[in-house]
Amino acid sequence: MSVPIIRDLAQLREMTTTWRRAGDVIGVVPTMGALHDGHLSLVAAAKARADRVIVTIFVNPKQFNNPEDLANYPRTEEDDARKLARFEVDAIWAPDGDTMYPPGFSTNVSVAGLTDVLCGAHRPGHFDGVATVVTKLFRQTAADLAFFGEKDFQQLQVVRRLSRDLDLGVEVVGCPTIREIDGLAMSSRNLLLSDRARVKAPRLHEVMEVIATGLAAGDSMQTLVPPALKALENADFLKVDYLELRSCDTLSLLDRPTEPARLLAAAHLAGVRLIDNIDVPQIG
Ligand code: PAF
Repeated sequence: MSVPIIRDLAQLREMTTTWRRAGDVIGVVPTMGALHDGHLSLVAAAKARADRVIVTIFVNPKQFNNPEDLANYPRTEEDDARKLARFEVDAIWAPDGDTMYPPGFSTNVSVAGLTDVLCGAHRPGHFDGVATVVTKLFRQTAADLAFFGEKDFQQLQVVRRLSRDLDLGVEVVGCPTIREIDGLAMSSRNLLLSDRARVKAPRLHEVMEVIATGLAAGDSMQTLVPPALKALENADFLKVDYLELRSCDTLSLLDRPTEPARLLAAAHLAGVRLIDNIDVPQIG
């Protein structure tokens, strides 16, 4: 059966009000479309915990700091709706730009601290855009639970913090990164890779695994990062925005995983910016 695609906020409210009255738990999976198996794993997680599942599809202009990136972002709504029908989700919330940001819209949600580093340092305004739209999506869908991938680890931590700080009453559930068979983290951006670049893309994850092994053996980031950068350069990653070990909780910089830590990277391959992160066992 096809999934209703809702574009009108009043219609969405009517639906969610009926569900809430019936005591249903509502789960939301926020996306920008171009759905892949990573997104679908979030949908499966939502189906397992919620009575009603809404998938949102909105390519949020406020989180793109580069107009070309926004214009090139893949848009595949029909195909997305077909994939979601297999999961029997209850609704797709796909508002247009004016419904999300009516003329005169002037509110900005900003999460301090966590957003100054990593992607936040390289994409000014990106996390304000994410925080603003996610706050709206949580309110619009009346969600109890929201499902996000660990692939965007910084985003997950930002959303957790904002839900807590603003008492939004939404439990933010983090779900593991889904990878292609060669280790490349699934991402809508992978569609933008040329065949040649796609072959080289898994090198990012491989290099990160080498660092994680070195950290587990007691080596430091200071010694492990220079050869890793060389290996990335050899694989045509011509610009690395960051390759850093950070505390899971505060995202503060670490040289060794002396507390729960995550290794995070963002690097450019043939004009496509790829991000990835892996868990690193704590030592000592
Ligand atoms: O992860 C994404 O696809 C987006 O950042 C999100 C959470 C849907 C907000 O636009």
